[in-house]
Amino acid sequence: MKTEMLPCDERGISAAAGLLKKGEVVAIPTETVYGLAADATNEDAVAKIFIAKGRPQDNPLIVHISEVEDMEKYARDIPDVAYRLAEKFWPGPLTMVLPKKDTIPMATSGGLDTVGIRLPSDMTARRIIKSAGVALAAPSANLSGSPSPTSAQHVFDDMNGRIPLIVDEGCCTVGVESTVISFDGEGVRILRPGYVTFEDLLTVTENVVIDKGVTAELDAGAVVASPGMKYKHYSPKADIVLVEGDLADFTEYVGKNYGDGVYAMIFNSDAKGFPYRYVMYGDNDKENAAEVFDRLREVDEIGAKKVYVRCPSKNGVGLAVYNRLLRAAGFEVVTL
Ligand code: TXA
Ligand code: MG
Repeated sequence: MKTEMLPCDERGISAAAGLLKKGEVVAIPTETVYGLAADATNEDAVAKIFIAKGRPQDNPLIVHISEVEDMEKYARDIPDVAYRLAEKFWPGPLTMVLPKKDTIPMATSGGLDTVGIRLPSDMTARRIIKSAGVALAAPSANLSGSPSPTSAQHVFDDMNGRIPLIVDEGCCTVGVESTVISFDGEGVRILRPGYVTFEDLLTVTENVVIDKGVTAELDAGAVVASPGMKYKHYSPKADIVLVEGDLADFTEYVGKNYGDGVYAMIFNSDAKGFPYRYVMYGDNDKENAAEVFDRLREVDEIGAKKVYVRCPSKNGVGLAVYNRLLRAAGFEVVTL
């Protein structure tokens, strides 16, 4: 299959909508990462997403809508707090897991009786959903296990020959995937941290907990709140090690372990005088989020074999970056 790349103008949007209506898979931009979209209500279309990504069938897909009211087409028993969160954070990078209606096939929900719903803020994404006339199931548009794509080129690198079209809108602004939450009555549980932070959610309800799977490795066979938690994720070929400690200790540690193919991934402000090979991923949690996946792809391109990463903040959006890096590192953390 030839993979076409079109800009996010009228032509790109109508080509995408045409393919989606025919049950095909199209890569589309969102504010978080690029998504691999198909008609969420069409089992055959959704099956093509799993094939293109090489994704385990029990890992559910997020359903993307373009109007808040559409939530009720696909979800039922929606708690009041979900409406308040939608009002505050939609359109935007928040996914709410709710009991699903029969409009969502089991293929989309990975066999679960719940569905994750999100209303993206990216205008191209919303125009494509509207033009397609149906909600779109869309996981991140990377090969399963690889770093999520934050540019159309990343998508092309993974999906060339596997899908007919990529709609190109340049680089994603947020850079890490949406915050995924579930509900326990009026209480909220963070299953995957993202740009909408724990602190943000607390402004709407005081009842917010962070699932332990966010920062801890799960035992083999453990029952997980979100199937995505149990898979190896975001991994470049290079071996990633997350290192907690100040710059002086970090520098000394890299020095002790330095050799062929060893790189450091540091903050921009660390770079002056840093004596070893490095890449940089920004200076605060939002910059770290915007750059982390691009750097995880870059280290493979430059032939890194081992990468020691300076640990990001664990607060605010930093928690999302920390969560992705923990998985990229296979939970290998060195505390100095
Ligand atoms: O920002 C995003 O969320 C991007 C863009 C494209 O919208 N999408 C994305 O999808 O990251 P994906 O499939 O790569 O990650 C979805 C995560 C997975 O960890 C999955 O297990 C979890 O959300 N999830 C989806 N539906 C769920 C459900 N019904 N119950 C529990 N977890 C769910
Ligand atoms: Mg993903």
